[in-house]
Amino acid sequence: MNQPPANTNPPAERQWLTPDPLRGQPALVTGASSGIGRAVALALARAGADVVVNYAANAEAADAVVAEIRQLGRRAIAVQGDVAREDEVQALFAQAVEAFGTLHIVVCNAGLQRDAPLHTMTLEQWNTVIGVNLTGQFLCARAAVREFMRRGLDAAVSRATGKIIHMGSVHEVIPWAGHANYAASKGGVAMLMKSLAQEVAPQRIRVNAIAPGAIRTPINRAAWQTPEALAELLKLVPYQRIGEPEDVGQAAVWLASDASDYVTGTSLFVDGGMALYPEFAHGG
Ligand code: BGC
Repeated sequence: MNQPPANTNPPAERQWLTPDPLRGQPALVTGASSGIGRAVALALARAGADVVVNYAANAEAADAVVAEIRQLGRRAIAVQGDVAREDEVQALFAQAVEAFGTLHIVVCNAGLQRDAPLHTMTLEQWNTVIGVNLTGQFLCARAAVREFMRRGLDAAVSRATGKIIHMGSVHEVIPWAGHANYAASKGGVAMLMKSLAQEVAPQRIRVNAIAPGAIRTPINRAAWQTPEALAELLKLVPYQRIGEPEDVGQAAVWLASDASDYVTGTSLFVDGGMALYPEFAHGG
């Protein structure tokens, strides 16, 4: 690959968040047919990126996201693929590169929950969550790094050779009874992200994570769909509102853009303060 130039600092006068900071930077978002993935795909497109919309099962929903992105004047394709399967991830990235020539931004977002108290948790529930949430992020990050290294730095497009954004969770630090498989997977994602960030920084590949708190999506519908459930949930959120998928979309745009060019190996918490031990506001 092209060697990045040594120690080139940004010009002070540069305007970072232009209206379309991601123009010319094709992006791939896994699990983009709904929830946070969908919002991230749309936010990246609004910021100028063409987008590969990966989905596991719901082709109709993925096609709708593609249609929305095309209406914004960007290119988009939907590609089915289970991120837990090596052959499907390889095929996904091959299709992406065939469609758009390369990728500059990869968002490893696809995730799921299979909740159960540990003493009743089946090995299948454990393996399904670790397979999608952790192994899936490994497989996609590996494919991303391979593509970024193949292409090398394209300084006309971005100061970085490529950007990987992992979807973590507040549960990378907050233990979660009844969800040990999920919390273990997200704790693993955080260390995968940091280790990879350290490894590929010399190639000017930036690797970060977003750690969302309670975001209004199908995965946690039970926690917000009734006023009673929402009131319980908001006891855990100092900022006193539930997060919206767009809150995460905006964070992804910043992490993918040159505005965050000196940021690597970090988890950006987008959680309204959920990880701040809210109960200590009135005790301790
Ligand atoms: C989980 C949600 C949960 C939130 C806050 C997320 O990672 O997927 O189900 O509401 O964390 O606990």
